[in-house]
Amino acid sequence: MSEIVGIFSAKGGVGKTTVAVNLGLALQQFGQPIILLDDGSNSTSIELLLGLEQYLQPQKISERKGLRDFIQEHIILHPSGIKIIPSFLTSQIFKRGASVVRKSLRDFDETILIDFSPGLHERTKKVLEICDSAMIVTTPDVLSVTEAMRAKLLVERMGKSVKGVILNRSGSSRYDLVAKEIEFGFNLPITGIIPEDSEVKRSLFRRKPILSLNPYAKASIGFKKIAAKLLGREYNPGILAFAKRLRYRLT
Ligand SMILES: Nc1ncnc2c1ncn2[C@@H]1O[C@H](COP(=O)(O)OP(=O)(O)O)[C@@H](O)[C@H]1O
Ligand SMILES: [Mg+2]
Repeated sequence: MSEIVGIFSAKGGVGKTTVAVNLGLALQQFGQPIILLDDGSNSTSIELLLGLEQYLQPQKISERKGLRDFIQEHIILHPSGIKIIPSFLTSQIFKRGASVVRKSLRDFDETILIDFSPGLHERTKKVLEICDSAMIVTTPDVLSVTEAMRAKLLVERMGKSVKGVILNRSGSSRYDLVAKEIEFGFNLPITGIIPEDSEVKRSLFRRKPILSLNPYAKASIGFKKIAAKLLGREYNPGILAFAKRLRYRLT
């Protein structure tokens, strides 16, 4: 039976898609099989980040079988080993009620990470209904933290657990809130910090997730640390991480 975890915030542009893809890859590398579900209507979609642009076009699919078999038939296997439910498939699946979708997804063995679309709408609630828990993503500015706190409240009001808080794009501005202030706002410890990293931009340009493009980029190390923590493991990038980061930067 799978665990279904939403990667969530009320605000767009904070890094939900970047986190879903790279945390998913890091968890998979640590031996935890992952399915990434694209909630759809995203500006930067999972498909784009993973170089799967061909799946951005609506595909002609008919649903004749049970939902579990239908998903199994159309799910995409990425070369990294991770499985993807692209938005065209999600929009078919979400025509069904939340409890039916939840039951079918829980039949899978993999952990399912749902990349949420921005906003707090009725649809957001439906997608949250499908989840067991949520990881909240925020950047270190007041607007983003406020929206993330609203997201946390909704998660709790719906009786779901908050699995953690990820602070993304840390260190980009001297006006950033510091981790202690953010933890005070959430009344929760920050699970992990991903620094602002120009390699993330390069990875988007190259249509390759940062974890594959530069496994020793500061952001990649951040993702691996969070994945290790979630699995109760340790990750140490080693003393040569700096040299390896530079070498990968030239690729
Ligand atoms: N740690 C980071 N360092 C630099 N740029 C980042 C980082 N995280 C995300 N970005 C960039 O921020 C933009 C928004 O990220 P995205 O994952 O699409 O956010 P969301 O899914 O919340 O809308 C993208 O251009 C992405 O490349
Ligand atoms: Mg997104």
